[in-house]
Amino acid sequence: MKPEERRRVGRLANDLKQRVENKLEEKAAEIRGRSLDSRAAQVAIDVSLPGRRAPRGHRHPLTQTLQDLVDIFRGMGFKVVEGPEVELDYYNFEALNIPRDHPARDMQDTFYVTDDVVLRTQTSPVQVRTMESESPPIRIISPGKVYRHDADVTHSPMFFQIEGLMVDRDVSFSDLRGVLEAFLHEFFGPETEMRFRPSFFPFTEPSAEVDIRCLICRGSGCRVCSGSGWLEVLGAGMVDPAVFRFVGYDPEEVQGFAFGLGVERMAMLRHGIDDIRLFYENDLRFLSQF
Ligand code: DAH
Repeated sequence: MKPEERRRVGRLANDLKQRVENKLEEKAAEIRGRSLDSRAAQVAIDVSLPGRRAPRGHRHPLTQTLQDLVDIFRGMGFKVVEGPEVELDYYNFEALNIPRDHPARDMQDTFYVTDDVVLRTQTSPVQVRTMESESPPIRIISPGKVYRHDADVTHSPMFFQIEGLMVDRDVSFSDLRGVLEAFLHEFFGPETEMRFRPSFFPFTEPSAEVDIRCLICRGSGCRVCSGSGWLEVLGAGMVDPAVFRFVGYDPEEVQGFAFGLGVERMAMLRHGIDDIRLFYENDLRFLSQF
């Protein structure tokens, strides 16, 4: 091009470039604005909507029952002590007046670890351990796991028991009855009728099994109480003098009572549950009902 022509065309080209750039910038701003608007619309919070509740858990029904039981005895002045789950044969049997050849060993299908060591079949050995390390007056309960080779709808190879022991001068069978009645009325309700049935345990003499009026049929007889109108809830008795001699107490000086109860059984009776295995399956449809 000629020089004057070049100048004119150059100016035109510059104008054009400027206009295209302006248009591009305009469009870009428009697009940026549009996507901001739509993102804002997506994340908008409607503060008037009701909130979502976070699911809240609670204690396992067995834990609830165990704590309720422990609280009742604590309220009566019983101290909580614990003992080992892997236990010497001596404490689980021998010192509870159950020698090796005693037929009462058949009542409890024992898991043996070695000839002298077992998974405890009951919480009763804690009685002996406590009496060995403390002197009277004694008022203890001992909650914990016990093990037996047994499994069906009412038995589990691992379950919970609570042992109770009171030793002092002049402790009588009426003290046992009074404590158990206060306990059962607190746990099952003040109208709960109870009865003692003569029974046998090697470590108590006399021994009793304690029943309450059937909670389902109120005594007329049903499937839960096998038609008897009564439900067995615990074992108890006066500490056998032979047990006192094992721990070096003088049975002429002190007397005592003991009792043992199954925690699952208490929970089943309280809630009308007919299969013990439900406690261990951890199915939320079951657990969330409590
Ligand atoms: N240890 C017994 C059991 O497992 C329960 C029991 C009965 C405990 C009578 C006691 C008692 O302390 O006096 O079957």
